[in-house]
Amino acid sequence: MNGPHDTGAARIVVLGSLNMDLVLRVPHAPAAGETLQGRSMTRIPGGKGGNQAVSCARQGARVTLVGCVGADADGEALLLALREDRIDVAAVRSDATAPTGTALVMVDDTGQNRIVVIPGANAHADADDAAWAAHLQSAAFLVTQFETPWPQVLRAIEAAGRARCKVLLNPSPVRVLDLPVWPLIDTLVVNEIEATTLSGIPSGSPAEAALAGAWFRDHGVTRVVVTLGARGAVAIDAAGARHHPAPHVQAVDTTAAGDTFLGALAVALADDASFDEAVRLGIRAAALCITQPGAQPSIPFREAVLSSRLPPDWTLL
Ligand code: RIB
Repeated sequence: MNGPHDTGAARIVVLGSLNMDLVLRVPHAPAAGETLQGRSMTRIPGGKGGNQAVSCARQGARVTLVGCVGADADGEALLLALREDRIDVAAVRSDATAPTGTALVMVDDTGQNRIVVIPGANAHADADDAAWAAHLQSAAFLVTQFETPWPQVLRAIEAAGRARCKVLLNPSPVRVLDLPVWPLIDTLVVNEIEATTLSGIPSGSPAEAALAGAWFRDHGVTRVVVTLGARGAVAIDAAGARHHPAPHVQAVDTTAAGDTFLGALAVALADDASFDEAVRLGIRAAALCITQPGAQPSIPFREAVLSSRLPPDWTLL
C-alpha cells in the first residue's frame, strides 16, 4: 500500500457524503410493475464523499474528510473503513438524530447501475468558518460534490477562496445553482448529463462536450473535464479542448468510477502533473475501478494505476 502520510504528500480536504451502499445484483433493471429475482445483496461502504476521499488516499494524498454519519452500526462501519485508508475522520460528525446515509445500488449484468440515495445524516454535514479555515490551511485542494446540503458546500467553497485553496467541484447529483460560484472553481468535473443540465449545451459527443466546457470557462471556471464514460473524457482549459479516449475494459460494476477518476485527477494536479497527464491518470484509475464490484473496495491504489495499460493517445478538438 502506498503511504498517504509519506513526507511531502499533498493534503486534500474532502467535504461529502458517506453512505452504506445496499448493492443488489440483478439480471436487468426491473420495469414498472415487474417483480424480479435478484442474484445477491451486499452492504458496501460508499457515498460520493467517502469514495472520493478513498481515491485521493489510495493515490497517495493525506486526506481530511468533513461529513456526518448517524450514531449507528453503519456509521461505525463506514468510519472504520475510512480509517483503514488512513483518512483523517476527526471532522466527521456522528449525529444521534438521523441514521447513516443509505444508497440502494442496483447493478445489472452489464455492470450499469441505478442508484437511489436516502441522505439521512449527510443532511447534517457541517463545519463553521473557523473550522474550515483550520481544515483548509496548507491544503492543495478542497474536493466536494452535491450529496451534502448546498449551503454547506457553498460555505466550504467560499472558505477555500479565503484560504487560497483550489476547489475541485463535482456537481453530482446535479442541481441548478442559484449563485454565480463558477469563478471560485479551479477544476470542474462533470459527466455529460451534468454538463448539459448546468450549461444548457448538449454534451453527448466529444465535440459537444468541448463546447459545454468552453461555456463553463466563459463563466469563470479555470479547467473543466467532461467525462463521457466508455468514450473517455474531454479536458478543456485556456489552451483549448482535448479528447482523451478510455481503454476498453470489461465492466463488472461502474459504481464509483467517477469518484475514482476525480480522486486520481485531484492528487495528480496537487502533485503538479499537467492537466492532460492528470486526466489520463484519472481515466486509467476509473477503468480499473469498473472491473471490480462495489464502491470503495473497487478503488485502485496508485501502484496498480501506474502499472496499468495506457489509454490511447488524446486528440485535439
Ligand atoms: O458515486 C457512487 C456513489 O453514489 C455510491 O457509492 C452511492 O453511495 C452514491 O452516493
